[in-house]
This record gives sequence, C-alpha cells and structure tokens, in this order.
Amino acid sequence: MTRTLVIANQKGGVGKSTSVMNVGVVLAASGRRVLLVDLDPQAGLTAAFGIDSYDVRRSSYSLLMVENASLARVVRTVRDRLALAPASIDLAHAEMQLARQPDPARRLAHALERSRIPFDYILIDTPPGLGVLTANGLAAADSVLIPVQCQYLAMRGVRALIDTVERVQQNLNNRLQIAGVFGTMYQPDSPHAQEVVDELRAVFGPKMMQTLIQYDDVAAEAPVAGLSVLEYSPQHPVAQGYRALTEEIIRDRLDE
Ligand SMILES: Nc1ncnc2c1ncn2[C@@H]1O[C@H](COP(=O)(O)OP(=O)(O)OP(=O)(O)O)[C@@H](O)[C@H]1O
Ligand SMILES: [Mg+2]
Repeated sequence: MTRTLVIANQKGGVGKSTSVMNVGVVLAASGRRVLLVDLDPQAGLTAAFGIDSYDVRRSSYSLLMVENASLARVVRTVRDRLALAPASIDLAHAEMQLARQPDPARRLAHALERSRIPFDYILIDTPPGLGVLTANGLAAADSVLIPVQCQYLAMRGVRALIDTVERVQQNLNNRLQIAGVFGTMYQPDSPHAQEVVDELRAVFGPKMMQTLIQYDDVAAEAPVAGLSVLEYSPQHPVAQGYRALTEEIIRDRLDE
C-alpha cells in the first residue's frame, strides 16, 4: 500500500524541500518506488533536481486545476525508482483560481486517488504558509512530518500548524496523523540549540524523532549541483542524518 507523507511547516526556510529531496533519494536507493510532489510556487524542490519551473508544461498545477489530469503525464523520472511531479510558475495563480473551484483543498487527493502508478511512498513538499496549497498536501496525506529549525522561536509556527492539522482531521481528512517532528539545522556546539531540542522533546514527547539534521553548508551546495547530499557527499553528517531519519520513517510504518 502507498504511504503518503506531507512535509509541512508554515515557517519558511526550515528545511522542508531539502528533507523531501534527501529522504526521497534514500527511499528510492533502498528499493522503494517513490513519488515527490512539489506544491510550492517557488519550486525549490523542482530546481534542486535541475528542472526549470518556467519550462515545465505539465506540473502539479495540472493536478490541482485540470479536471481528470493524469499523474502519469505530469511525473518525470529523476532517479531510478524516483519520480517528481514538478512545480511550474503558474502554481502561483492556483491559490486564487482554486478559491472558485468546488472542494478546493481536495484536488490533489483526488488526482492521487485516480492514479494507478504503484508507488510505495509519496512525499509532498508544501510552501510556507497555511494556504490552500498546503491544505491540499494535508488533505492528500496519511501523515505529516514537521521539520523544525533548532533555533529560538522555532516553536511559534508549529503550534499554528498543529491547530491546522486538527482542523484538517475534522473537516477534510480524518486519516491524517502526525508522523513526527524533527529538528533541522542543528548546531551541536550551540547550547541554545540543545535548549530548543529539549523543549521540542518536552512538548512533543514520542512524536519528536530521535534524528537531528545538522547545520552545514553542504545542504545548500548539493542542490546547486542538482544533487541530494546523499549523492554529493555520502559520508557527511547531513547525509547520515537523512539516512537515520528515513530509517525512523520506515520503522514507523512497521509499528502501525
Ligand atoms: N541542514 C542544513 N544546513 C544548512 N543549510 C540548510 C540545511 N537544510 C537546508 N538548508 C538550506 O536552507 C535553506 C532553506 O532550506 P529549504 O529550502 O529546504 O527550506 P524550506 O522549508 O523548504 O523553505 P521554504 O519554506 O522557503 O520552501 C536552503 O538554502 C537550504 O539549502
Ligand atoms: Mg521549500
């Protein structure tokens, strides 16, 4: 059965797209068939795979806006077993256009339900904010993964996100679970970062994942080369972090 995860945090720049790319590459390398969906008009995930969102003709926009759009015609193979539904520049208009459509937050869910492509995992990348694009991601997923930057005020946006998840559970998608919260951009030698992690563990308890993704420029350098950190620098602590995080995600499935 397909497991669909959405990566969300209304705060920008916390590592959502980086995590989708790296976890996606680890899952595909381990033999799973994986689909990544880029729902962000800024198209950071699409760009990280070396695809220009100005050049994309069929994209996640089609999945949201075109009646009976076919996922098979939107996806591109970016690695062995790894497919991407890219974002295109017109996704920026989808927010307003969707407001005029019936059931605007469930368009992606319907598009994925129609598809017959057998994926083991679908990972959905969402834009910052809690608008209708993020709502489409939450409505289409069975669980949400929340990256949190290990920095001061990191918790603020998370509370609003948890409220949104609860509203989505009540109104749009009662399957939705919180798969976990994980710390990104962790600086081990900063006492302040440790305080943030302690607070996250206190608030989220078992939902706080063990893995912390370390802060390092390699995470920004790799996508410039069109690569995940796993491919760019396989033994780097950031690469090891994403392997460990993926293990936790897979294990969670076995516990269900
Ligand atoms: N572990 C890390 N260490 C250092 N830099 C990182 C790390 N993870 C991500 N970055 C960098 O931080 C920036 C933001 O990361 P990313 O784009 O993944 O965040 P995002 O949550 O998807 O942002 P947005 O909300 O704008 O979509 C990027 O330049 C990325 O390369
Ligand atoms: Mg992003």
